[in-house]
Amino acid sequence: MSRKKLLILPGDGIGPEVMVEVRRVIDWLDRYRSIGFDLAEGLVGGAAIDAHGTPLTDETMADALAADAVLLGAVGGPKWDDLPFEQKPERGLLRLRKDMALFANLRPAVVFDALADASSLKLDVVKGLDIMIVRELTGGVYFGEPRGIETLPDGGRRGVNTQVYTTDEIRRIARVAFELAEKRSRRVCSVDKANVMESGVLWREEVQRVHDEEFPGIALGHMYADNCAMQLIREPGQFDVIVTDNLFGDMLSDEAAMLTGSLGMLPSASLGGIDENGRRAALYEPVHGSAPDIAGKDLANPLAAVLSFAMCLRYSLDLAEEAGFIETAVEVVLDGGLRTTDIMQKGKARVSTTVMGETLTRELDKLTG
Ligand code: IPM
Ligand code: MG
Repeated sequence: MSRKKLLILPGDGIGPEVMVEVRRVIDWLDRYRSIGFDLAEGLVGGAAIDAHGTPLTDETMADALAADAVLLGAVGGPKWDDLPFEQKPERGLLRLRKDMALFANLRPAVVFDALADASSLKLDVVKGLDIMIVRELTGGVYFGEPRGIETLPDGGRRGVNTQVYTTDEIRRIARVAFELAEKRSRRVCSVDKANVMESGVLWREEVQRVHDEEFPGIALGHMYADNCAMQLIREPGQFDVIVTDNLFGDMLSDEAAMLTGSLGMLPSASLGGIDENGRRAALYEPVHGSAPDIAGKDLANPLAAVLSFAMCLRYSLDLAEEAGFIETAVEVVLDGGLRTTDIMQKGKARVSTTVMGETLTRELDKLTG
């Protein structure tokens, strides 16, 4: 296998700490399979603002476009909260998504058996939960024009954002959801607000058309976003793949994440289309944020970042078996009773970020020994 190029963007807050543990797993892979990567590191978010005055330099953007995959930690923090909107750390992440054309955001919400009772919902409601949220990531109100804040003649102000989707944008994300469903339990729930938004009406019609023309064997349902938010709490087991737009996906994925008991456990993949050379732009990041309150204290849970790397192995590097080892090692470590603070439970052993990462690689060695 030719050496794959990975760009690591640790970012802000706990990002750098959790990416150290990802590097440990990358080193393990090198030892175990002699799979070396061309690793490069760059700055994004507040870290890039401090060094270069912008949340993402053109050079880093170019490196990201040239990489086989980008591994990101987290961006943002109170230090940069007062910056003008266009200069905020989050803009670095949004530019990566947009310029790499990462339109498909996969956010699995899986309940690990060992953590099922850490959920705020009852055990029997969440046990065995395995939902895949497919969030459209480069369109909708996040990027729609016109946008801005303007001052009106009477001195009042007016803030504007635009929710906009085209048939192509809807159809390509629908295909991603149906293709994933084919490898799962063949059920897709498409989520919109077709009862109040024209873009939602179009969304519903186009998802249905892709289904009828290309994936008639998949069971497709439609749900309004508010109802979906409620159903996720009431009976999450009814969902398999959920496909939805950028904003609803942002909210529903946080909600689904919390069902699992810890945001600190959840990975994500952001994928582009497949180009003429068979390459697909991809970025992997934990769903959790930069958690500035615990940054630098060796308290963060590195497992979401590590599981994001496992997704990278599966979706970008064709190393599904190795991805499986990592996922199994995470379960073994949890079953063994190790917990970072965010998932701490009575009678378990509280460990640091570093100890969690070290133990994980030891388990990987044992598993593959
Ligand atoms: C996410 C985050 C981002 C988003 C922020 C950091 C811009 O909440 O990835 O879900 O809103 O998409
Ligand atoms: Mg979010």
